[in-house]
Amino acid sequence: MKQLLFSIALILSGVVQSQSLNIIPEPVSVKQPRIAASYYLNAGTQIVALGSGLENSINYLNDYLNRFYHFKLKVTNSPTGNNVIRINFERMDNPIAGAYRLSVDDKGVYIAGDNLEGVFYGIQTLIQLLPVPGVAYRLPVSYCEITDYPRFSYRGMHLDCSRHFFSIDFIKQYIDFLAVHKMNKFHWHLTDDQGWRIEIKKYPKLTQVGGWRDGTIIGRYPGTGNDSIHYGGFYTQDQVKEIVKYAADRYINVIPEIEMPGHAMAALTAYPFLGCTKGPYSVQQTWGVFDDVFCAGNDSTYNFLQDVLDEVMALFPSKYIHIGGDECPKTRWKKCPVCQKRMNNLKLKDEHALQSYFVQRIEKYVNSKGRSIIGWDEILEGGLAPNATVMSWRGEQGGIDAARQNHDVIMTPGDWCYFDHSQSQNEDSVTIGGYTPLEKVYNYEPIPDSLTTEQATHILGAQANLWTEYIGNESKAEYMIFPRMSALSEVLWCPKGSRSWENFERKLITQFKRYDLWKVNYSKAYFDLKTSVLPSKNFDGVLWKIDNKFNKKMYMKFMGSDSIWGYAGPQLIQKSGVAMGYFTIDNRTVEVTQVFHVNKATGKKITLTADPSPSYPGDGGFTLVNGIWNEKGMARSSELLGFLGKDCEAVIDLERPQYISTVTVHLLKDMNSWIWPPKYIEVSTSTDGVTFTPVKKSDEFKLINGSNGAIKINFSLFTTRYVKVFMKNPGKIPQGNPGAGYESWLFTDEIEIN
Ligand code: ACM
Ligand code: ZN
Repeated sequence: MKQLLFSIALILSGVVQSQSLNIIPEPVSVKQPRIAASYYLNAGTQIVALGSGLENSINYLNDYLNRFYHFKLKVTNSPTGNNVIRINFERMDNPIAGAYRLSVDDKGVYIAGDNLEGVFYGIQTLIQLLPVPGVAYRLPVSYCEITDYPRFSYRGMHLDCSRHFFSIDFIKQYIDFLAVHKMNKFHWHLTDDQGWRIEIKKYPKLTQVGGWRDGTIIGRYPGTGNDSIHYGGFYTQDQVKEIVKYAADRYINVIPEIEMPGHAMAALTAYPFLGCTKGPYSVQQTWGVFDDVFCAGNDSTYNFLQDVLDEVMALFPSKYIHIGGDECPKTRWKKCPVCQKRMNNLKLKDEHALQSYFVQRIEKYVNSKGRSIIGWDEILEGGLAPNATVMSWRGEQGGIDAARQNHDVIMTPGDWCYFDHSQSQNEDSVTIGGYTPLEKVYNYEPIPDSLTTEQATHILGAQANLWTEYIGNESKAEYMIFPRMSALSEVLWCPKGSRSWENFERKLITQFKRYDLWKVNYSKAYFDLKTSVLPSKNFDGVLWKIDNKFNKKMYMKFMGSDSIWGYAGPQLIQKSGVAMGYFTIDNRTVEVTQVFHVNKATGKKITLTADPSPSYPGDGGFTLVNGIWNEKGMARSSELLGFLGKDCEAVIDLERPQYISTVTVHLLKDMNSWIWPPKYIEVSTSTDGVTFTPVKKSDEFKLINGSNGAIKINFSLFTTRYVKVFMKNPGKIPQGNPGAGYESWLFTDEIEIN
């Protein structure tokens, strides 16, 4: 009654109040009455299901209500009164399954689906009309009229369960994350170098042996050691069936990935006959790409894989079976007599053609069972298998090429869709690197401009990948996918051109409350303070600038000191220490810290003789004297200058003659990524900045702090105004190393003078 009076009061006073809804992904069309009003869902609400096969949707709604609102609804064919949710089918003829209509008015809730998926998505939308958090027993649902349907047929998320193993309970939860985002493909990465995770009855050693490793590297690759912990696990066939059913009840198709011919070390360890050298092999304890792969010459390899695929296809009804195909070195095949014999017999021109033969032979087998293969974009090399769908991960080009060859494509380009990348510039745990913030994901467009309308029909959709080298637990997995997965759901669902970042930002506040309701971990990077370091006018230090996009008042302090001041502009930093900036929003404090290492070079005028590579430009020379070290490794490539095959030469003007005794050059060394320390470093000095005298050349230096550190050059004390530091690029990478024959990278992030 109170509500009724209130509504009347609104009408009488002529106030028009439009309540914004918070549905993610945003529906295609939402109409709301001019005057806000609500229907109330409560424990007395009855569900009337007018079609058959609707149990999945009804059960989902009841489970959700029970979990988060602590009541369930009665299902009946003879309802009493108007407190009813009616569920039905209506023809909508959308080419992609999942269209629905939902209306809420004084007669209750009405959901009509074009098909079962449509009804299920209508239920998901109803759930998102409920208030968050779920405390009330009478849940207001705003009056509205929604018409909705998906843009893409492939709306996916991937999970790597090899690098780290995730429990069946977590897999179910992950599937529910997909369901609430109206996603419909779960790509389950089940085999890799670090563990084989699916029971295969004919080859029990795959899981008994291949499912376990005797340790894992500590920290970022190549690691600071090994934890020596026996690690592993696998899914039994019964568990797999349980997952497939759980997903199917949510209209999600599970696509298994069985990797071949590369990423096969776990399988080779279990059955060494599968490799070219016959082993012995071991389940890998570190990350990367390994030379030992399935032998492409022996028929026994193909027989084994066909046996495995037989069991896999019996477990997964999916039309698609993912066979990997990425990152397969040809090193062993080049030396293996059996592989070479196969190439000769078939007149194959090179090992890429052999890989193509491998994939095509497997494809033929999978096709003969009425299924289709998906492969990573490397399967384009050496010739595409005739019916393969390509998953484009090394950018979009593979997808573009495949679509032009009339092949179907799923877009998963690293820059937008790799959720193992950092989403904050201040991640507090190790990630694989890269920087893929929320807004970048949101603005991803899966259909490249360069495709014709006809070719574009081959882009089935997109998927985010969660590789788990640096994701060792469920909480971190949640942190990496949320909120980026919510952004991706709009990319995949909303019609082109109708997405709105501003509207998404508005809804995020409610979405964060939903994550809280679900008790999932999520990144708060959206609130991040933006920071930058700038040169000071007088070369007497550096300026630390902080900013927030909410126009909130910010504060600053130095750690270890009690004084706090309101931020009034870039702060001059003249001594080493940790500076902190923060603001509060929505009852949360958002903070950022920055470690400054101030020395005689900090903030001084610096000139580079030659520019760094456009891929790693940093802030030019200033990056080398900004007082900041690349202490978080490759996660902050913006802190580094990269020189490809070129030397780095910098001249620093100390402004007046000063005593110096050391020059320390901070570097990155990661030979697996083609990043080498300099061949030598030479320091020269000058009083006029024109004529330089070499003081010390050092080619025998030790890196401080292991691989990712610094080289220190000591002098006896002397006086100089100008210091020239020359870092010699070591040139072409020597044989026997990753990238042999290519130019090496030289990376530096700071020159310290003391
Ligand atoms: C991949 O990320 N290697 C497909
Ligand atoms: Zn071989």
